[in-house]
Amino acid sequence: MNKRKLIVAITGASGSVYAKLLLDSLLRLADQIEKVGVVMSDNAKEVWRFELGNQDYNHYPFTFYPKMDFNAPFASGSAKYDTMIIIPCSMGTLGRIAQGISNDLISRAADVILKERRKLIAVVRDTPFSLIHINNMKTLTEAGGIICPASPSFYSIPKTIEELAQTVVSRVIDLAGLEQDSYRWNEE
Ligand SMILES: Cc1cc2nc3c(=O)[nH]c(=O)nc-3n(C[C@H](O)[C@H](O)[C@H](O)COP(=O)(O)O)c2cc1C
Repeated sequence: MNKRKLIVAITGASGSVYAKLLLDSLLRLADQIEKVGVVMSDNAKEVWRFELGNQDYNHYPFTFYPKMDFNAPFASGSAKYDTMIIIPCSMGTLGRIAQGISNDLISRAADVILKERRKLIAVVRDTPFSLIHINNMKTLTEAGGIICPASPSFYSIPKTIEELAQTVVSRVIDLAGLEQDSYRWNEE
């Protein structure tokens, strides 16, 4: 099995819990993964501190890259990172990617993933959407990306906020093509 090279981008949209749960899940799935490169925007750190009350993003054993570090390997297609997950994805970052404005490592990495025809998953959270948001999501979809709204499901009867948020993260992990044990509707 080819081990995976993943980029996780965390932006300043609400929903830091989704990023936390994804990073926790990737730790558990380490046997399928060669590398995880993480990049956080400035507001991602602020929102994480505000919503989760800690700075635990510092504690993950992944390689974190500064948001303006264009020397990061995945700023170039040659590094062959196969999948990028933006979780949560702000409307600002969505718009920059949709318009090809690669002015930080997150938007440049997404630009690279799309041009190399690899997998880009954007976990958007906003509600409602403006026409600008919808057009940007359409553009990203037409370019080969996947919009995966942070719309939790309830049919697994989640009991905590984390269990509810994990329903989103599990869909993201499925979309990324990683194997996991998770709730499957109507399976024993
Ligand atoms: C607590 C908090 C929650 C936010 N939630 C959202 C959100 O859900 N969606 C969004 O697009 N921006 C949200 N923002 C604003 C973004 O952080 C801001 O637009 C920022 O410029 C996005 O930049 P980034 O994509 O580089 O992180 C939030 C800001 C704060 C402080």
